[in-house]
Amino acid sequence: MKALVLSGGKGTRLRPLTHTMPKQLVPVANQPILAYVFRHIQDAGIKDVGVVVSPETQKDVRRFLGKGSRWRARITYILQQEPLGLAHAVKTARPFLGKSSFVMYLGDNLLAQGIKEFMEAFHSEDLDALIFLKEVENPRAFGVAVLNKKGRVTKLVEKPKTPPSNLALVGVYFFSPAIHEAIDRIKPSARGELEITDAIQELMRLGKSVRGRILEDWWLDTGKKDDFLAANTIVLDNYTKRDIQGKVDRKSSVTGRVQIDKTAKIVNSRLRGPIVIGKKCEIVNSFIGPHTTIGHGTRIIDSAIEHSVILDNCYIENIARLEDSLIGREARVVDPKNHSRALRLLIGDNNVVEV
Ligand code: G1P
Repeated sequence: MKALVLSGGKGTRLRPLTHTMPKQLVPVANQPILAYVFRHIQDAGIKDVGVVVSPETQKDVRRFLGKGSRWRARITYILQQEPLGLAHAVKTARPFLGKSSFVMYLGDNLLAQGIKEFMEAFHSEDLDALIFLKEVENPRAFGVAVLNKKGRVTKLVEKPKTPPSNLALVGVYFFSPAIHEAIDRIKPSARGELEITDAIQELMRLGKSVRGRILEDWWLDTGKKDDFLAANTIVLDNYTKRDIQGKVDRKSSVTGRVQIDKTAKIVNSRLRGPIVIGKKCEIVNSFIGPHTTIGHGTRIIDSAIEHSVILDNCYIENIARLEDSLIGREARVVDPKNHSRALRLLIGDNNVVEV
């Protein structure tokens, strides 16, 4: 069994942040999404991992993953020159995949329960494809599945204008090598891509064994700002433990599950978890509310922040209220005149915002 992690694309839906960072490396609770993906692959005992990168993402992705030894994996990098679809990525990875079965994991997807148990089901039921489905409110944004009364998948459509159900295809798929034959038989979709959804539909037409499972637990596609903030919220809710290592002065109060790195400093501030505070942060005269992640080296002075992700080395001063925001690395957000308004921002790396 091999794994194929897709880490290319342009990340258009997370711009401007993705002008300077691949979407798969945007951190959730101070860890890039790819780190969670690799942890799941390691937990399943898979060692041979192909990582599909694009010309835009390859440098940063290689720098972060290296050879994969952190997850006891051997990584083979595969360059997909153009974003011609998920099935095209599998085609490009064919020399790496050979005759192996594999799990394809989209590098901007997060699955609550990992993949180990699913891998076992895929093997024991001797399937050609095992796919996952989840009810969503906006099926138009996804691949959508139709199930019959017995719960078997009967039809799959990519981003339908009139969705036949509200069951979205999750970005984790198990395949036998039969998928290659199906990919060879499909044509590019209206958006000009070779869709994996069409390839799975083709597998069914060829009479191969395709099963869909509805996920009980959460799943997140982090490619957009609101989904990204939802991912941050869920990960903080599920994984954050109270662990206060940094310096908290006597005038500060820390309630709930708050994680503070040992090199961080909290002065005269109120913190209400779940929150993660990174290395060398300084929080002074401020309030940090639930579901907030503060990146390494960030300073927050005289401000109130809630339900937001602030990346590394930012400077935030005098902001009466910042919420539902995603702030890129080394950004400055300051309000010298202290206008007291609630701000909701999506800001790229190195930006300066003076309110
Ligand atoms: C891709 C797939 C879609 C799937 C989604 C899950 O869409 O084409 O079928 O539902 O991932 O994240 P994309 O995010 O590339 O638009």
